[in-house]
Amino acid sequence: MLKNKVAIITGGAQGIGNAIVMKFAEAGAKIAIIDIKDSSKTVEEAKSFGVEVISFIADVSDEDTMKDTFNKIVEKWDRIEILVNNAGIYPLERFTEISITLLKKTFDTNVIGTFICSQIAANIFLTKSIEGTILNMASAAGFSPDKYHSHYAASKAAIISLTKGMAMELINDKIRVNAIAPGAITTEGARNPGLFEKSGKIPEKFMEMQIRKFSPLTDAGMGEPIDIANMALYLVSEKAKYITGTIVTIDGGRLLL
Ligand SMILES: NC(=O)c1ccc[n+]([C@@H]2O[C@H](COP(=O)([O-])OP(=O)(O)OC[C@H]3O[C@@H](n4cnc5c(N)ncnc54)[C@H](O)[C@@H]3O)[C@@H](O)[C@H]2O)c1
Repeated sequence: MLKNKVAIITGGAQGIGNAIVMKFAEAGAKIAIIDIKDSSKTVEEAKSFGVEVISFIADVSDEDTMKDTFNKIVEKWDRIEILVNNAGIYPLERFTEISITLLKKTFDTNVIGTFICSQIAANIFLTKSIEGTILNMASAAGFSPDKYHSHYAASKAAIISLTKGMAMELINDKIRVNAIAPGAITTEGARNPGLFEKSGKIPEKFMEMQIRKFSPLTDAGMGEPIDIANMALYLVSEKAKYITGTIVTIDGGRLLL
């Protein structure tokens, strides 16, 4: 489905990003992973599908580094066709105790990072007349916030709006922009969302409060990274050629509960 297409996937070292890398590798894409963590394990696993995979350790919110990184990828493969803005953080904190530092870090990674990478990719698509596609990672929390995630939910709501704005502006150049809004998905990040900054603790009954995120559709109540990766593959492929500006919620019905 993606034979020889060049895809950049951010946050591909683990979790949902790792599953998207594997799915795209299976579909024949050439892949560049950008992550602040070392992605070499993911790279080796993806290469077993017989495709080229490279990785960069870099922060998506650092504009100069991103320009340099995207340039290196274009120098290597002469183009890019797909960008998946998956890198994100979701630290827990009570609204009354969220520091401006934490708020800025959340927005820098989730929103500014998505903006920077998308702007660089869109300019490459336009310069090279590529009918490329961008896929952003929003969250069900962007529609309905979870407790202790007001900063995160606001950042994901921004991604939902940014997705539609980019899709509208780029539609005449046949550049498609969509987003997936996952509910609770079993990943390293979801299992260890970080403790509250101030108290260093997760409050009692936290898990009970999170129950509304869980879905009766699976035994564990959560989805798996592959549930997101399957949709990611569809949305960036030719099969979705008439889809842009859409936010696909994959939450096991959580927003209905
Ligand atoms: N897991 C869930 O339940 C869930 C639900 C809704 C949305 N999401 C979103 O899906 C995406 C992936 O989530 P996940 O659960 O796989 O998370 P994860 O923490 O397991 O993986 C995220 C990856 O992003 C990387 N990353 C973080 N900050 C970065 C930065 N500044 N620059 C480059 N890389 C960076 C991390 O190193 C990590 O490899 C995130 O955007 C998250 O908000 C996840």
